[in-house]
Amino acid sequence: MDTILDNIHEHGYAVIDDAFPAGIIDALLQDCLENQPNFKAAGIGRQQDSQLNTQVRKDKTLWLTGASPAQTDFMALIDVLRLEVNRNFFLGLFDYECHYAKYAVGDFYKKHLDAFKGKSNRVFSTVCYLNTPDAGGELLIYAQDSDNVIARVAPKAGTLVVFESERFPHEVLAAESERYSIAGWFRMNNSMVGTVDPAS
Ligand code: OGA
Ligand code: MN
Repeated sequence: MDTILDNIHEHGYAVIDDAFPAGIIDALLQDCLENQPNFKAAGIGRQQDSQLNTQVRKDKTLWLTGASPAQTDFMALIDVLRLEVNRNFFLGLFDYECHYAKYAVGDFYKKHLDAFKGKSNRVFSTVCYLNTPDAGGELLIYAQDSDNVIARVAPKAGTLVVFESERFPHEVLAAESERYSIAGWFRMNNSMVGTVDPAS
């Protein structure tokens, strides 16, 4: 936990191997695989043009609802992180939303931001990998407003990535074998009455 908080404090992001007890990652992957029939093509923001969508991202997703013990266990562990982040950075993160994501061979997610200033209440993004693909599907994190890659993360079961949502453009390179993860967002209350968050 201290490593996560230190890295967030110093760099705005953290990459932590084996962030969760091994059993829960296995259970989540199992849960994810069982729910595959319900996965849907992912959306990007309010853009509903599906042809455009598939040029930007090709993964399929399913929101976690707490429908299984694996999901409730994961959300309980994430809540520990939420409270620690709040305590350390004097933030008021009140909520966490997350979805399973499946990248089939060839699927990608082009360089993007998860939140735009004043347009979303997503403060921190998280990605938790559920399997270890043989190759491909790396996450590239870019420096703010630049093309410089500051982190290249090869997905590995149990690795957790946390980063400031408005600060770091990032992308997922084409998967070379099936890639399963949970992408999530810690949210802060804001006063944007009447606006709807972009669905991920
Ligand atoms: C996302 C995302 C990164 C990853 O879902 O918004 O950027 O490594 N995911 O899966
Ligand atoms: Mn993203």
